[in-house]
Amino acid sequence: MQSTKSIQGTREILKNHKGKTIAMVPTMGYLHEGHGALIKAAKEKADFVVVSIFVNPLQFGPNEDFDSYPRDIDHDLAFCQKYGVDLVFHPDIEEMYPKDMEFTIRIKSMASILDGRKRPGHFEGVVTVIAKLFNIVQPDYAFFGEKDRQQLMIIKALVTDFNLPVEVFGVPTKREESGLAKSSRNVNLTETERAEAASIYQALNMASEHIVNGEDSPSKIASEIKIYIEQNTSAHIDDLAIYSADGLKEIDKIQEDVIIFIAVKFSKTRLIDNLYVKI
Ligand code: PAJ
Repeated sequence: MQSTKSIQGTREILKNHKGKTIAMVPTMGYLHEGHGALIKAAKEKADFVVVSIFVNPLQFGPNEDFDSYPRDIDHDLAFCQKYGVDLVFHPDIEEMYPKDMEFTIRIKSMASILDGRKRPGHFEGVVTVIAKLFNIVQPDYAFFGEKDRQQLMIIKALVTDFNLPVEVFGVPTKREESGLAKSSRNVNLTETERAEAASIYQALNMASEHIVNGEDSPSKIASEIKIYIEQNTSAHIDDLAIYSADGLKEIDKIQEDVIIFIAVKFSKTRLIDNLYVKI
């Protein structure tokens, strides 16, 4: 496995592998089995797998957790080695943003809901870094987690709108045995909070079951979830919405596949999760 902090270095290494198909897995590091699932999928698809590790300041708001976001590059390099990654690109901020960017990408409706609304500028920061990473690595394939489903959908739209020559794949969410979605941010939960956080997936599953059994009122489903989380955790619900799976439209009645999105805030940590419900 090779690793470099340099854009030039990345391009030179890739030049030596011309003719191979390249798959990329962009990450912010503190790697866990969720990232591992993406790497595995990438390895199945391509000859050469590139993982990027970069905590992207552009996608964090002023009062968000950029400074406390967990980092451990030695662990991450060992993790990538174990998973058979070919190249790790882990630039410093100065390498990615030597000066203020002159250009911004604006996102219309897709960033007007959920984390786009709760975290103004977040997805613009995400697509900016992804556009740069795609230009640096020029992958044939790129892998993103369904855990961050809105992000996955926005990146697919970015690729479509700008005709980027990369195929984007979504990978199902990896969970702890408790059902808690694996996340780098889970280390910032207290032990009690971590145990309570299993309720998020339980609530989503309970809701899914009720929908499948015929409950068609989004507001009833939302209030059930809210009550369950409030009764079983110390967290508060930061966001909760049920949208049509096709196009994330608001709905009055559940008559088609939907996705339930949730964001909850524990003392120091905001967690997100979602569940696709087929009806
Ligand atoms: P990060 O949170 O490190 O996640 C990197 C990738 O791993 C994302 O595509 C995310 O959806 C996926 N992922 C995280 N937890 C997962 C889980 N439990 N199961 C499956 N996939 C999971 O998302 C980002 O970084 C950044 O926004 C990034 C896309 C790298 C841009 O900076």
